[in-house]
Amino acid sequence: MAATGSEKQGATAYYVSTPIYYVNDAPHLGHAYTTVAGDVLTRWHRQRGEKVWYLTGTDEHGQKIMRTAEANNVTPQAWCDKLVEEAWKPLWEHLNIANDDFIRTTEKRHTDRVQEFVQDLYDKGEIYKGGYEGPYCVGCEEYKLPGDLIDGEGEFAGQKLCPIHKKPVELLKEENYFFKLSEYGPKLLEFYAANPGFIQPESARNEVVNFVEQGLQDLSISRSTFDWGVPVPWDDKHVIYVWVDALLNYATAVGYGANQEKFEGTFPANVHLIGKDILRFHSVIWPAMLMAQGLPLPGKVVANGWLMVGGEKMSKSNLTGIKPQDLTSHFGVDAYRWYFLRAIAYGSDGSFSWEDFSARYTSELANDYGNLASRVAAMVGKYFGGALPEATAAGDAERAVQEGLAKAVATADRKIGEELDFQSGILAVFEFVKQVNGYITEQEPWKVAKDTSPEGQARLATVLYTAAESLRGVAVLLNPVMPETSQKLWESLGAEESLGALADQKVQNAGVWGGLPAGATVTKGAVLFPRLEEKPA
Ligand code: MSP
Repeated sequence: MAATGSEKQGATAYYVSTPIYYVNDAPHLGHAYTTVAGDVLTRWHRQRGEKVWYLTGTDEHGQKIMRTAEANNVTPQAWCDKLVEEAWKPLWEHLNIANDDFIRTTEKRHTDRVQEFVQDLYDKGEIYKGGYEGPYCVGCEEYKLPGDLIDGEGEFAGQKLCPIHKKPVELLKEENYFFKLSEYGPKLLEFYAANPGFIQPESARNEVVNFVEQGLQDLSISRSTFDWGVPVPWDDKHVIYVWVDALLNYATAVGYGANQEKFEGTFPANVHLIGKDILRFHSVIWPAMLMAQGLPLPGKVVANGWLMVGGEKMSKSNLTGIKPQDLTSHFGVDAYRWYFLRAIAYGSDGSFSWEDFSARYTSELANDYGNLASRVAAMVGKYFGGALPEATAAGDAERAVQEGLAKAVATADRKIGEELDFQSGILAVFEFVKQVNGYITEQEPWKVAKDTSPEGQARLATVLYTAAESLRGVAVLLNPVMPETSQKLWESLGAEESLGALADQKVQNAGVWGGLPAGATVTKGAVLFPRLEEKPA
């Protein structure tokens, strides 16, 4: 079998995807959570000097979008165009998402290839015509198994509800085309066993293995009661099931069937980032589709937990959807990117609260990190006229700081770059920030400054160099998470002039001591994390 995403080598890109989001409404915090995580991961790998491909996009077909467009009295295409241009793309720009491509499932580069893929499977005998009757959730765009449903209460008493959307399911009866998914159960189980890291976290993996062990049903891959989708090539009364259409974006966007060189240099994904609600699609259906076509399987599928508000999954339909812009206008874009990855262990559910965000912003960003940066720059200005002095009198205290940075680098590189444990990676850097603050408190450079002997001045120079050089490392390590403030700090350290662009600094080398040259021009730049205004009413 061809190399999987975890065995890719050589000139191939480190390829990361987000889910492609439904455009029935504007994006909320939950969508931004996954997309920011992918952005941090890919910026990290780019800053290791690797070739990277970061893909996001929108899922535009299916009944859910069609109904939304109808309710708004526009065509589905007009609805999608408007939402993509006015809501989705602007948000990713606003949040500084450095995606390499944005795929829309209504684009011809996608729809043509989807038809070819499905036609191929049909020609290979992987698809047959059959009938199906069962409960369908339009919110999930999925036939549900009766055992998945929950009993309705209150206004829905007596009805069966989708456990995710908490809305009644619809009973559908259709003649459909089916993909022989049931035949792939044993091969999938074999694949999971041979690739224990394929599904993360562990709880997600266990859930999928249990599910597949119970036996898979064939998958209905077409719908004939509405027409907003990609026509089935051999039977235009049917459109291709929106999930089959959507999953294929990961192949069509990187040249499947169109640009072989690009495809081979990128596919399969190293990491598919998803929310846990769409785990089965990515870890069961998608790999089976690839197996059926003889294509290589992804490296890993990593499921994040849900952002909750008031104990409920934040979503558009339960009216708890908070706009990312409501938070960035108060806390700033960088703090926003940092907060969710810092506060919630990736893979677990987490609750958002304004109070928690404010408290962490003030203590960790403004007081620990921002103050350190401004104090160091102010002291280099005051005592050395803004020219970074040489460290000629380093001792044990300085060596401890150097070791602290090296440790932060190693931990952050492993946690963020490999394990997608963003929280531990970020914490490692902030532990180091605390260590440097402690070092300054102990060394008391403002007292050392009073000692005008050559030894005293050499100590002062050493302490300030050590602190500034530590900040160089911090700016490099935090650049993937907070690119705007890292750039400000980089400039204030005079590093742009002496070391070049921040994005070119390798994260894995951030701990190599002595990067900042003596004589670098240190200036007191803009405050990195301004004091927060009162919470808006
Ligand atoms: N269109 C499908 C995905 C197709 S991928 C081939 C879809 N779209 S969606 O708009 O509903 O977005 C799903 C993704 O958004 C989730 O899997 C998750 O990554 C993110 N989130 C949406 N709400 C979320 C939370 N409340 N919390 C965390 N992430 C959530 O499903």
